[in-house]
Amino acid sequence: MPAVPVVLSAERHREAAEVFGGAYLVGPVTDRMWSRSAATYKGSTVHAVLEDDDSIGAVARAFDVTLAVPGGCVPAAGVSSVGVRADRRRRGHLRSLMTAQLEHLRAAGAVAATLRATEATIYERFGYGVASSYGTLTVDRARARLRAGAAPERALRLVNPTAALQLLPQVHDRLVRSRPGAISRPTWWWTNQVARMLDKDEPLWVLCTEDGDGEVDGWVVYTATHTDTASGEHRAQVSVIDLVGATPEVELALWQAAMAIDLAETVVAQGRPLDDGLPLALVDPRAARLSAVEDETWLRLLDVPTALSARTYGSADAVVLGVDDQLVPGNSGRYRVGPDGAERTEAAVEVEIGVSELASVYLGGTRFAALATAGRVRGDAPALRRADLLFAADRAPWSGTYF
Ligand SMILES: CC(C)(COP(=O)(O)OP(=O)(O)OC[C@H]1O[C@@H](n2cnc3c(N)ncnc32)[C@H](O)[C@@H]1OP(=O)(O)O)[C@@H](O)C(=O)NCCC(=O)NCCS
Repeated sequence: MPAVPVVLSAERHREAAEVFGGAYLVGPVTDRMWSRSAATYKGSTVHAVLEDDDSIGAVARAFDVTLAVPGGCVPAAGVSSVGVRADRRRRGHLRSLMTAQLEHLRAAGAVAATLRATEATIYERFGYGVASSYGTLTVDRARARLRAGAAPERALRLVNPTAALQLLPQVHDRLVRSRPGAISRPTWWWTNQVARMLDKDEPLWVLCTEDGDGEVDGWVVYTATHTDTASGEHRAQVSVIDLVGATPEVELALWQAAMAIDLAETVVAQGRPLDDGLPLALVDPRAARLSAVEDETWLRLLDVPTALSARTYGSADAVVLGVDDQLVPGNSGRYRVGPDGAERTEAAVEVEIGVSELASVYLGGTRFAALATAGRVRGDAPALRRADLLFAADRAPWSGTYF
């Protein structure tokens, strides 16, 4: 019988980080590393499985975020630092951690949990499903030119990284609210991101856009690697680390700014949304290529009735979903979802769906029809079509925040 996980006190957080680091093969936590990570742990709830000798066998961390959903937002948890000691694996530690964490988060009022998975075969059994994906955009600067009028005129301001650390957190959470899947960024997230870059001694630039009132409404954070030619010509690859705009138009203005960086041959941005506006806005759409598409948000709906009521829906006749949640039976049941919202019902089920598949369709990133083709939801074609129209979102879901 695996031990029941406990919530660790702050005195044992460094030990927890050590267990997680070992599981991740990143080695002993040095004082320098801990000076960066302590705040991350302090801002989190850390669950641990304790062994008979009181040592830590496994850990999982969770922190509060706000998750944007179509038409609104919900209180949610970011789940991270999940690791089991090498000598304690495959004996149910992860299962007991996930179960305890899920109960804890539900009791604390989180409507959903979101994580980034190291492997795609671990979390579905706990009710998580892929709710957003991202990819790498590689722009060939010599070919890339925006179509006339594609990007709005925007004033640009170069901000030094230390000042950006004060400025950007103040506006980020407000700017990203209209993108389903976006999450608020905890203070420690900003400090860690910038600290990691500074630790690597990489150059870092922050270029902000301003609205008509001089307020920052977007930014591109980038670094550069030098790729000088054999004859000594100065060349570089610009790597975009963060590109966030209040609207898709502002994001295009930021792309325009990134593509205007002299000496850059290519501009590479990892982790971009699948509907990034750049390729469609280029005169030569092949000048920007999207590659390495993979799962980003693994989402777990902790409180299905509240989650379904929290988002808005498209126009179509209502559909009745029969939801199955093995781990949280209270989530199971029938829900009528229509343009006016969602509520429990006794009506006949039209589409049968598991809770992890419901997480995949919840932000609008996966279609019911596609899951039905894969045998993962059941319903007749007209009911699936209505469900797809209702759950469709204006923008592809994307978090843009790795943790
Ligand atoms: C992945 C990891 C957390 C699993 O922990 P564990 O305690 O060995 O897992 P459990 O014994 O509780 O297994 C729970 C279930 O997950 C499955 N499972 C465990 N590790 C798995 C893996 N790497 N891939 C696929 N399935 C896995 C088990 O087979 C078991 O399945 P079941 O419920 O159908 O019987 C652990 O191996 C680890 O720490 N790995 C390195 C760090 C890591 O990858 N962490 C994940 C962070 S996103």
